[in-house]
Amino acid sequence: MSVSLVNGSYIIAGLLFILALAGLSKHETSRRGNILGAIGMGVALVFVILGVIFGTQENLGGGVALVTQQAAPAWAIAVIIAALAIGAILGVLKARSVEMTGMPELIALFHSFVGLAAVLVGWVTYFEMAAAGSFDGLHCGELFVGVFIGAVTFTGSIIAYLKLSAKISSKPLMLPAHNVLNLGAIVVFLLLTVLFVLYPEGGLGLLLLVAVTVLALLLGLHLVASIGGGDMPVVISMLNSYSGWAAAASGFTLDNNLLIITGALVGSSGAYLSFIMCKAMNRDFISVIAGGFGSDGAVKGEEKDYGEHREISAAEAADALIHAGSVVITPGYGMAVAQAQNAVADLTAKLRAKGVNVRFGIHPVAGRLPGHMNVLLAEAKVPYDIVLEMDEINDDLADTDIVLVIGANDTVNPAAAEDPGSPIAGMPVLEVWKADQVIVFKRSMATGYAGVQNPLFFKENAAMLFGDAKERVEDIIKAF
Ligand code: TAP
Repeated sequence: MSVSLVNGSYIIAGLLFILALAGLSKHETSRRGNILGAIGMGVALVFVILGVIFGTQENLGGGVALVTQQAAPAWAIAVIIAALAIGAILGVLKARSVEMTGMPELIALFHSFVGLAAVLVGWVTYFEMAAAGSFDGLHCGELFVGVFIGAVTFTGSIIAYLKLSAKISSKPLMLPAHNVLNLGAIVVFLLLTVLFVLYPEGGLGLLLLVAVTVLALLLGLHLVASIGGGDMPVVISMLNSYSGWAAAASGFTLDNNLLIITGALVGSSGAYLSFIMCKAMNRDFISVIAGGFGSDGAVKGEEKDYGEHREISAAEAADALIHAGSVVITPGYGMAVAQAQNAVADLTAKLRAKGVNVRFGIHPVAGRLPGHMNVLLAEAKVPYDIVLEMDEINDDLADTDIVLVIGANDTVNPAAAEDPGSPIAGMPVLEVWKADQVIVFKRSMATGYAGVQNPLFFKENAAMLFGDAKERVEDIIKAF
């Protein structure tokens, strides 16, 4: 197959990926963006596989062709087809069965695969170079950096997966001198890289490759373990970015332009998303990507005695809602767990029919993935024009009669604004406590994802409506 054809297909795939990113930036166009990305990936896969099966050659003119890639032997083609089939079957099964609430941990797991692939590509390339006895300094540098980023991404993503699926605590691990450990690891990595570029051959080269792999695996573990629950959204987009750079590094190692383009797109868009999230959460970008760098790690403001909370029944809540002029609903992760979005949409329609002004206030990190609440509300056909961002609604909350907090906790926690010692201090939140009355839907007095107590629940104007959010919302509708 002609190299020009392969390169042409790579350009088309690259353009489709750029259009996909553009589409994904708005709700209205996100479905189209997804489809364009999938087509781009399809084009890329087909031409990469055809190139492997038939080999590639460059036409030098005059009927002379230079073979740039040999056709793979039959056994290798069989292995590739088997791997593709197994991957496709597993992917389809997982995508069909995953709950919306399980998406973030699935994404973290996918990132770990990209990291692992980058490490394996680096190692295989090293053995190929060793077998051929030809070590190129620049190539060795690319390979070494690829293995480093890949290994950090691999273990970092595994820890993110464990934290997001609540298999380990979301609290930050704060080893003594953790900042020095992170910085020290980077300095050691730079030294190892220089050594590897100078002496890639023999036992020393192999030892250096083992050393950087172990160092990066440990650094990935430590970086993500040091980040607290409230900052996990940034970690996911940061690992997304790392996985892109790992893929780009593999692209350099394998001399594959498409992998470089795709990796750079994922790496830079992930980095930009992390930056936007840090801004939205009032977090220092460098501090978060460096694994909580600059934080003293002390978790303060917990276990305070905030007094007694008040409870309310669904019938009382229904009565209050009928007499309200304005209602703001602030959904959170609990709405996703309860799958309460359709009941909430129904409640919204009923209240609007009774002349109540109902709007939604969405925190940028409500739920467990960017846009989580918007996706659920769109699925339940809540009109876009009453779904407002936190910045758009916060100023109106003081003039609101009732706020319904549906399964949200950290994103409505006044401690972020009022308690400088709180682990979530400084994070902008929905200031629901400023409304006349707040009704909180949750099952218990348990903390939210960041593990921080919420003084909102003990405020005089707040009342708890305990139970599963979907059932309680349906009870209110029945009480109407
Ligand atoms: P959270 O702080 O996680 O609180 C959710 C609340 O929902 C819990 O307190 C829980 O209380 C309640 N809940 C769970 N199941 C429920 C059910 N069936 N019915 C009623 N309530 C239920 O939620 P949030 O306010 O959305 O904040 C999100 C948190 O996740 C932030 O800390 C954020 O940083 C973090 N995070 C976000 C993302 C992204 S990108 N959005 C990614 C990773 C982490 P009970 O157990 O008492 O019911």
